[in-house]
Amino acid sequence: MGWTIRPARPEDLPRCAAIEATAPDPWTESQLAEELAGGFGRLFVACRDGQVQGLAVFQLAAGEASLNALTVDPAVRRQGAGRALLTGALAALRAEGAHRCFLEVRAGNTAARALYESLGFAAAGLRRNFYRDPAEDGVVMAWDAN
Ligand SMILES: CC(C)(COP(=O)(O)OP(=O)(O)OC[C@H]1O[C@@H](n2cnc3c(N)ncnc32)[C@H](O)[C@@H]1OP(=O)(O)O)[C@@H](O)C(=O)NCCC(=O)NCCS
Repeated sequence: MGWTIRPARPEDLPRCAAIEATAPDPWTESQLAEELAGGFGRLFVACRDGQVQGLAVFQLAAGEASLNALTVDPAVRRQGAGRALLTGALAALRAEGAHRCFLEVRAGNTAARALYESLGFAAAGLRRNFYRDPAEDGVVMAWDAN
């Protein structure tokens, strides 16, 4: 409880990159900065007590969003940040005209898949051996605004 969701600002990026470094396929600070500066990138953070504890990285174009990263600091996982972040971000993207959101997740990432399913994402395809280190299938999931 008690999560604030807001767009990321440039000064958030070092903390975001530190959180990302704990993810299976992390984004670097320069990648995050590029995305924040680009026209299609949409970055959101989850904060509690003024501290950034999670981030979500999307792209939005032509009414379709893609979720390209979602990571919560391991110290505060399973406390609702991921759900609050995705819920808030999808509402903001929808207000900006998004009618659909795609993502791809490692087949074995049961935590993320459970979160996505609980928010209405459904499996839409399988990319065999899409991931490396370790090699793993990628599950494509889609969410439709209704
Ligand atoms: C996936 C991730 C963002 C979830 O963030 P979180 O803040 O821990 O998630 P929440 O506390 O909001 O949990 C929301 C729901 O997700 C599911 N979930 C979260 N962690 C889970 C776990 N360890 N096992 C099973 N389900 C889990 C549950 O359905 C949970 O709802 P519940 O607590 O009511 O049962 C977080 O585990 C993470 O940063 N993982 C590493 C990065 C990653 O894999 N990102 C996804 C890339 S596609």
